[in-house]
Amino acid sequence: MGQARNPDDLLPSGVVSEEGDVPSPGKATRNRKSRIGCMSTRRPYVGGNWKMHGELAAAVELTENLVAAIGNTVIEVDIAIFPPFPYLQAVGHALGHAAILLGGQDCAAHLEGAHTGQTSPAMIADLGGKVALVGHSERRHELGESDAVVAAKARAALAAELQPVICVGETLAQREAGNALQVVEKQVRAALEGLSAPQVGRVVVAYEPVWAIGTGMTATPDDAQSAHAMIRTLLGELYDAQLAGSVRIIYGGSVKAANAAELFAAPDVDGGLIGGASLKVEDFSSICRAASSS
Ligand code: PGA
Repeated sequence: MGQARNPDDLLPSGVVSEEGDVPSPGKATRNRKSRIGCMSTRRPYVGGNWKMHGELAAAVELTENLVAAIGNTVIEVDIAIFPPFPYLQAVGHALGHAAILLGGQDCAAHLEGAHTGQTSPAMIADLGGKVALVGHSERRHELGESDAVVAAKARAALAAELQPVICVGETLAQREAGNALQVVEKQVRAALEGLSAPQVGRVVVAYEPVWAIGTGMTATPDDAQSAHAMIRTLLGELYDAQLAGSVRIIYGGSVKAANAAELFAAPDVDGGLIGGASLKVEDFSSICRAASSS
């Protein structure tokens, strides 16, 4: 279908938006499309979050194998990998000119300064990084990152010309209390606070229910769709329908080769953020192919 991908062409996304009417906020329900756009208008996006796994040699080997499997084939998907920070440069070298984006698993909320132990988005960019995860649930919950910190990190990433992948998602207790959509809406509103429409056009939103991450308990396509439709409707309310229809909203939480296609078939699910399965070349490649044909 398309041309070979060049990482520098991938930001901001070359998506074609689809005009549509914006439903009233809060109306998103199970099985309800956002009505703002369908996935065919947005380029799918798949991220591999390697978390704190592996060692240098394994990171380089995984990268080389990924490049061999999917790095130079023409599949219509934006693919990003997020190795541990100490391996960023080596993984960047192993990626070479492959059309796979390099990303940080986090970034500081500042571009430089006295912030011991932190990694600035400018440093990630300096190593060839194009993307940064912000607000991953393991950071929100293990390190107490607040919505305000996540918003500051998204702003800093954009200032360093990185694409922020803003992660949001409710806990099991919040879902069981019937508050999942309200929690996610609050997180998205906070993360986008003060961002202009062009800035939001460069953002990817990752809906990752906390109870699904690393547990093997995947959200149903209906549950994922319900949250994604709400987020897209909110983007339409905060910005406009065209922008809302162009922002990629990806799902994360126990995505596997076996369930990726059915999740990505949901109309507002534009790809995935993959943890465990991103450490296996066959599985991650097959998830990328599932996104390509969704
Ligand atoms: P998982 O992790 O695929 O292992 O559930 C997803 C994530 O944390 O991004």
